[in-house]
Parts: sequence; structure tokens; C-alpha cells
Amino acid sequence: MRPLRCGRRKTRSIPLGLFALCLAAAHCLQSQGVSLYIPQSTINATVEEDILLSVDYSCHGVPTIEWKYTSNWGVQKIVEWKPGTQANISQSHKDRVCTFDNGSIQLFSVGVRDSGYYIITVTERLGSSQFGTIVLHVSEILYEDLHFVAVFLALLAAVAAVLISLMWVCNKCSYKFQRKRRHKLKESATEEIELQDVEC
Ligand SMILES: *[C@@H]1O[C@H](CO)[C@@H](O)[C@H](O)[C@H]1NC(C)=O
Ligand SMILES: *[C@@H]1O[C@H](CO)[C@@H](O)[C@H](O)[C@H]1NC(C)=O
Ligand SMILES: *[C@@H]1O[C@H](CO)[C@@H](O)[C@H](O)[C@H]1NC(C)=O
Repeated sequence: MRPLRCGRRKTRSIPLGLFALCLAAAHCLQSQGVSLYIPQSTINATVEEDILLSVDYSCHGVPTIEWKYTSNWGVQKIVEWKPGTQANISQSHKDRVCTFDNGSIQLFSVGVRDSGYYIITVTERLGSSQFGTIVLHVSEILYEDLHFVAVFLALLAAVAAVLISLMWVCNKCSYKFQRKRRHKLKESATEEIELQDVEC
């Protein structure tokens, strides 16, 4: 084992001390590992949805968890807390965020301007830290909704076109019919006159 080798070349009393030191250092190094698990690193959402930025961590002791938000307009702190204590939520996200002991946060009723990068940093008491990123896309309206509306409008237009052409055809028909009738009336009138002429 490595820690044993540390003090081999020294005198008998020093190796023991060195061995203890090596062990302590090894223990320190081991406990400095913070691990962060992010099951979903990209989230697509629509306006007004509640979004869970889900993470889980493991480390020794109670860490400090911090969430930041980055977009084209800069970096903004959202919340910082130690699990089990009250969270310090920034003014910009007051009443819009709730925190969970596993490091996750929930954003209520997101808007398009909430789109961006959410960066979590988990910092151990000894100073080591780990960070992770979740990308959030918030869109105005579902594409399928828009599609439905477009199809509906097209259908309405088609029905209207059919109705208009039907009316046009009817109009034309009735006009022709009337003209024919008038023509026939005229014809019969002249026939009658002719007949009268013949009778006379
Ligand atoms: C989110 O939307 C993008 C396109 O805007 C797509 O490429 C991606 O696969 C989507 N991700 C999820 C998790 O739905
Ligand atoms: C974190 O905790 C929340 C609330 O209990 C849960 O919904 C979520 O799935 C957890 N996340 C992970 C990665 O375990
Ligand atoms: C909460 O955060 C603000 C700004 O980051 C800071 O000034 C304040 O001291 C913090 N409060 C607590 C209780 O940590």
C-alpha cells in the first residue's frame, strides 16, 4: 500500500508519524470527492409550465448548494442553501422557486425569458466542489397547436370557397332559367298574336 511506503527510509519513530499523516491525507483526498448526478441535462418546456431541475449529489457532510442562471443577458444567482436549512433565494426568483434536499429546484410558471443555462455548484465544507449544467428551452406555444390552428383555418377557407362557388353557380342557373322563361313567354305571346291574325 502506498501510505506504508511513505516512511520506510526514515528512523523508527518518524515512520509512524508519517504513516499517520499519509493516512490522514488519503482520507482527506477521499472525502473531497463530491459527485453530482444529473439525469436530464436538456429540458424543453412551454410557457406556464412548472419545471423540476432534477439533480442528486453525494459527498461527506452537509454541502452548500448554489444555482446560477446564465443567458445572453449575463449571470444571475438564483438560490443558495445548505440542505436542512432555509434557502436564500434571490429577489429575481422570490416566490418562483422551491428547493429540495437532493439539490434539485423547481421553477414555477416559467416564461420564455427563463430559457438558458442553469448551473449548480455543490461545495463541501472542505472547499472542494463540483458543478453541473442543465439547459432549459421554453417555447411560446406548442408546434402541434399551431399546426392544428393552421389546418382548421385551411378547412374553413375551403368550405367558404365551396359555398361561394355554389352560390355563384346557383345565381347563374336562376338567371339563365329566368331568361329562358321570359323568352318562352315572348314566344307564346307572338304565337298567340299570330294565331289571332290567322283567325281574323
Ligand atoms: C428539445 O428540442 C430540441 C429542438 O428544439 C430537440 O433537438 C431536442 O431533442 C429536444 N429535447 C428533448 C429532451 O425533448
Ligand atoms: C430529487 O428530489 C425530488 C423531490 O423529492 C425528486 O422529484 C427528484 O426525482 C429527485 N432527483 C433525483 C435525481 O433523484
Ligand atoms: C442572501 O444573499 C444575499 C445576496 O447574495 C446576501 O447579501 C445575504 O447576506 C444572504 N443571506 C443569508 C441569510 O445568507
